[in-house]
Amino acid sequence: MPVKIKFLGHSGILITDGKHNVAVDPFLTGNPVAKQEAKDIKCDTIAISHAHSDHFSDAIEIAKNNNATLVGAYELVQYANSKGVEKIEPANHGGRVKTPFGYIALTQAFHSSSFDGQYMGMPAGIIINIGGINIYHAGDTDIFSDMALIAQNYKPIVSLLPIGDRFTMGPELASRAADLIESKYVIPIHYNTWPPIKQDVSKFKPGASKVVVMQPGEEWTVKP
Ligand code: NI
Ligand code: MN
Repeated sequence: MPVKIKFLGHSGILITDGKHNVAVDPFLTGNPVAKQEAKDIKCDTIAISHAHSDHFSDAIEIAKNNNATLVGAYELVQYANSKGVEKIEPANHGGRVKTPFGYIALTQAFHSSSFDGQYMGMPAGIIINIGGINIYHAGDTDIFSDMALIAQNYKPIVSLLPIGDRFTMGPELASRAADLIESKYVIPIHYNTWPPIKQDVSKFKPGASKVVVMQPGEEWTVKP
């Protein structure tokens, strides 16, 4: 079955291969553009890029509701474990975690990561290997030249890049980032959730990658 991506709004997505459901940075509670609530999310795996509340704050509830496995930075998943999440897969940059559908790998991100006043390990980008393809969710980050290494190492067919500016790269730098990553498709994320990250998505203009603009609640089938 083809891999499908559902956009949850902000940076949240649900990926499915028809058998496994992976939530990445699901953020529904307090998300003004979300079409669903945290209790609606069905998944077996959750991957979290970093612990800021607009990425992590629903993960514990969703993990418990689904008895899902939580993948993320060592400190982040240990914190979740201390709050009752039983199935955790601690990882760090460069490492892969084998999963029933393939693997999840953490990559670099230039950002910060804390929650509830605590250090939560390094912020990350996430590679999701599912259905024989790689999807790159960049998390919150600036552009960095080693995105070219992510391209070489994983050849992601789809990349999700933040374009909101202020806390991450804006659309101009994200366009240059897309040119380093060379995915067939790029999906802009982390914009238009609140006024400080309001963006004109038409400014996101990579050279070669096709831009797939998704609305919250929308689903898109990856065509390799
Ligand atoms: Ni953040
Ligand atoms: Mn964020």
